[in-house]
Parts: sequence; structure tokens; C-alpha cells
Amino acid sequence: GGAGPLGAPLAGRSALVTSGPTHEAIDPVRYIANRSSGKQGHAIARALSGLGARTTLVTGPTQLPDPTGMEVIHIESAQQMLAACETALPADIAVCAAAVADWRVASQSDRKIKKTGSDGAGAGIPKLELTPNPDILASLSQRGNDRPGLVVGFAAETEDVIRQATEKRARKACDWIVANDVSPQSGTFGGAENTVHVIDAQGVDSWARMDKSDVAQRLAERIADYFAGGLE
Ligand code: CTP
Ligand code: CA
Repeated sequence: GGAGPLGAPLAGRSALVTSGPTHEAIDPVRYIANRSSGKQGHAIARALSGLGARTTLVTGPTQLPDPTGMEVIHIESAQQMLAACETALPADIAVCAAAVADWRVASQSDRKIKKTGSDGAGAGIPKLELTPNPDILASLSQRGNDRPGLVVGFAAETEDVIRQATEKRARKACDWIVANDVSPQSGTFGGAENTVHVIDAQGVDSWARMDKSDVAQRLAERIADYFAGGLE
């Protein structure tokens, strides 16, 4: 790229980042969601873009402003997130930082579910049947010709963080897993800081607790090193 390798080591590369929660509709007014703020994913997209990567951010609903200088695709559900990611391929780099809902309601109601039936009697307490969502990280990791050259996932764990994240890396077939402790006492979900361990084929790289923006910058630099041949 024109800025040269020092200023823009990822110039000429493309990156796809997922961020935020997903919302899975129950009916037109209700949904299942989670506490992801999108801070970490948005910061990663900004950091990759800052190092010169042509970046697409696919994000669920958050309170965050759209980062500038990149394409931002807004989605609500996991199925929509997968479809948006597929439109962003091919990409050299994929970082899945979204907190994708593992399940959605098996059959969404296209009308508001009512407490009272048409006869005025109680309609009963609805039972929500759930069905698994597509796993976007696993799906990107297992693509054929257009698999991104480097696929990075997150592992949000509340216990046994490194062991579970190592297993997750193998299960999903991604290249790196960024493991983080999301137990309530860690303050990670919604908080400004993160304590992460980067797990790759070589082993575990544990980073000190730092701002999510610093985690993002360091991760983007590690990705740039990988493409520069400094990391296997
Ligand atoms: N992920 C994804 N699509 C899903 C579920 C997870 O892309 N449907 C991604 C997340 O973005 C993250 C990684 O997979 O990068 C791990 O997510 P996590 O929720 O920790 O793992 P799961 O495999 O869903 O396992 P569990 O929730 O049971 O720990
Ligand atoms: Ca999950």
C-alpha cells in the first residue's frame, strides 16, 4: 500500500469483523438477546482499519456509533449475521467477536403473543421451543476456497477459561481463539477492560488486563505480524 508497511501493514488486505449481540425474535415486539456491548468487536474493526485493512463490520444492535472508514452492515439475528458475512467474502482476515445467540425460537409468531385468548380466558403461559443457530465462526473456518487466511474467534467463558477455549479452537477449526473471562466478577461484559489469552497452534499467549481498545490494537498488530511472516 501507499502508506508503506510501517504505517499500514495491512494495506491491501481485507478484514471481516462480527460484533455485538444478536436479537432473536419471539414475536414482533419481543426478542431473546444477551449483554454484549459490541465494544471489543467495534474496537477490533477500528484497529484493523487503522492498520490499513479494508474492513467490513457486521454488527448486531449496539449503543455504539458506526466506526468511520469502513463498511458497516447492521443485522439483528444470527441467520442475518451469517448471510451478511458471506456477502463480505472473500476476506483475508475474519474476526468473530459477536456474542451470537446460540438458539433462536423455533417458530417465530408473526403476531404479538397475547396473555388473553379470543374467548377472554387466559391463553396460558407460552412455551418457547428453541432451535440451534448457525455457528458463524465454525462456518467461516470450515469454508473451502474462500476460507479467510486467518480466522480468529473469541471464547467467552466463566470458568476453566484456557482449557475450554483450547477445546473450542479445535471444535470450530479456527486459527486463533481469544479467550476471555466473562464471569460476573470479571466485569468484562459491558465493561471497558478485558483480560485475554490468545491461543494458537503454538500455545497460549496471556496478556495483562487492559482497555478493550488496547486489546484490539494489540490483536490487530499480532494479525499484521502473522501476515508479515513474523508468526507462524
Ligand atoms: N460464534 C459464532 N456463531 C455462533 C456462536 C458463536 O460465530 N452461533 C462465535 C463467537 O463469535 C465467538 C466464538 O464463536 O468467536 C465462541 O463463542 P462462544 O459463545 O464462546 O462459544 P460456543 O461455541 O457458542 O459455546 P458456548 O456458548 O456453549 O460456550
Ligand atoms: Ca455461545
